[in-house]
Amino acid sequence: MSDVAQLNAQFGVPGRVMFVEGRGGLPVVEMVNGVGKTAVSLHGGHVLSYEPNDQAPVLWMSQLAEFAPGKAIRGGIPVIWPWFGSHPSDSSKPSHGFARRQLWTVQGVEVSGDRRRLTLSLSDSPESRAVWPYHFLLTLQVTLDTALHVELATSNTGRTPFVITQALHSYFAVSHIDNIAITGLEQCAYLDQLDEMRRKRQLGAITFAEEVDRIYIETTGDCVLDDPGLNRKVRVAKRGSGSTVVWNPWVDKAQRMADFGNDEYQEMVCIETTNAADDQVTILPGEGHRLTAVISVEPR
Ligand code: BG6
Repeated sequence: MSDVAQLNAQFGVPGRVMFVEGRGGLPVVEMVNGVGKTAVSLHGGHVLSYEPNDQAPVLWMSQLAEFAPGKAIRGGIPVIWPWFGSHPSDSSKPSHGFARRQLWTVQGVEVSGDRRRLTLSLSDSPESRAVWPYHFLLTLQVTLDTALHVELATSNTGRTPFVITQALHSYFAVSHIDNIAITGLEQCAYLDQLDEMRRKRQLGAITFAEEVDRIYIETTGDCVLDDPGLNRKVRVAKRGSGSTVVWNPWVDKAQRMADFGNDEYQEMVCIETTNAADDQVTILPGEGHRLTAVISVEPR
């Protein structure tokens, strides 16, 4: 039996939760309910898509995204863990940690009424301990109901405390970057990653006319992506996160990225639910932390 056939036999619920071979032969879980659908790759524990019925896709995926073991997928919701951005002391280590490049294990599937839930896990291995010397259990729960709920739980299963930064690095599809606005971060301070991490203050809604790469700090509230072109608002609510990253690479950075089309910056924006910069999380042996993003669509 193939991996996918085995997973279907063990966890599948026909018409509701199905395991399929995705691009690059990577196993993907498709969950469908009466109001929408989502797809999650076991590679990276990566939400690939979220599509409420009668809506354009909520998440963006690059036409040039690579689907291969060991590679990060450009789009959807990469799981950034156990460090956000460059490694704090060793820049030779992979950007944004290693969880997004690992194969996760299926722990279970739950189906009740219009709720579908997939639980995946990732734990330490000789390979992970070579880059990050700690024992851990990560659990990712993706729940589809009238919204998409993504919860990343970190447990320290070792004997020494560790410190993490992390992100549910959500890429949203937009009608056009020129036309959108993000609200919910007005008056927030942010660290400008394009200006030596200088601390600045957001005045009004966020709009885009150049590259943006900012860590908004001390912020726990919802963000709303207002998109008149798609005639909708996308709400990102969160728990366990005291910072939010907003990113659009604009023209030059788009050209520098091999897995990102030159013009694709026009059709996406990242609103990332994070523990980043000073918003670090210390996890003691036997303890844990949950980071949650809830993504829903509202009419304008
Ligand atoms: C964002 C960072 O979170 O991720 C950006 O703020 C970075 O600086 C972007 O360019 C994409 O990172 P990567 O490693 O997926 O290319």
